[in-house]
Amino acid sequence: ASVGKGNYRHFMEKELHEHPIVLGDTLRQYIDPASRAAALPALPFDPATVPRLTMSACGSAYLAAQVGRYWIEQIARIPVDSDIASELRYREPVLPEGGAALFVSQSGETADTLAALRLLRSLGQKVLSIVNVDESSMARESDGAVLTVAGPEIGVASTKAFTAQLAVLACLALGFGRARGVLDGAEEARLTAALLEVPGHAAALLEDSTEVLELAREVVQARDVLFLGRGSLYPIALEGALKLKELSYIHAEGYAAGEMKHGPIALIDASVPVIALCPSGPLFEKTASNLQEAAARGGRIMAFTDAEGAPALRRFAERVVVLPTVDPFVAPILHAIPVQLLAYHVAILKGTDVDQPRNLAKAVTVE
Ligand code: G6P
Repeated sequence: ASVGKGNYRHFMEKELHEHPIVLGDTLRQYIDPASRAAALPALPFDPATVPRLTMSACGSAYLAAQVGRYWIEQIARIPVDSDIASELRYREPVLPEGGAALFVSQSGETADTLAALRLLRSLGQKVLSIVNVDESSMARESDGAVLTVAGPEIGVASTKAFTAQLAVLACLALGFGRARGVLDGAEEARLTAALLEVPGHAAALLEDSTEVLELAREVVQARDVLFLGRGSLYPIALEGALKLKELSYIHAEGYAAGEMKHGPIALIDASVPVIALCPSGPLFEKTASNLQEAAARGGRIMAFTDAEGAPALRRFAERVVVLPTVDPFVAPILHAIPVQLLAYHVAILKGTDVDQPRNLAKAVTVE
């Protein structure tokens, strides 16, 4: 069936506004509301004993996998390796007996990801795919598939499929943690409750994006933009930079906040906006001090945070956008949305083609 834009100007705008529904649908699929526990489908490996997971994907799906890696290691204590799919084979990975591989893809057809999947499967790893298209090559060629419930995504730059991938990865991390005996029921219930609140927060964020639009007016004038984050927000900083490049053709770099002092700080002056993803939580103090270093060198800090983090950042940041306060576990899902919105608004201000950026394809079927 063909998909329309409804009352929206672009598919991307429509798909951004589908976040609350898609996140709700995906979370309902993998969380049992009665027991407040992750409810995973049958898996092709036993998470209780699997010695290691190898994760791989391309583009935004790779960045979702990176967040998943933080979650799976922190919550389930399973060792995880991850590589960009087009590089995985060249590393000649050393794979453990009985190991498993996890591939993430919206289309399920990306050639590099499919090639990596086939390689790892041929090397004896059990393969699980997270895909949005259940009839796709990856779904068919895997030992098991977990579906994101994002519906068709037409805009070339991924939006709702990306956050749906995060939602599935979060549920997998919880289910793996329980299976491994390192996550108790009370903690799992607390974390699933935090996840189930995300769709409502997403709706609130999308209802009023005035502040993100104001931020976009600053960013559209820049030649270079730096995105910073720490921990599970680091891959979201990379995603922010990727989205801005893809949609607006403005040069952007994502960096781990703590690594800035080893290079990018040399670029900082008043012409480079520094977009910081800095929610309250255990990593707040260190990230804030990295930002303060940038501000001291004339950097213009524009931060996404929450009510708890805002006062400290306001002391040196030029702009502070306050997002709902959530458990640090779910902060990357929530921060992904304004970062996508920012790229969207900058692209609209520049007049670029948001649904079909130059030189890019929705699914890349060549290696
Ligand atoms: C292309 C798209 C990206 C996407 C990537 C991976 O580059 O433009 O938005 O993240 O492919 O696609 P997949 O379908 O495997 O998630």
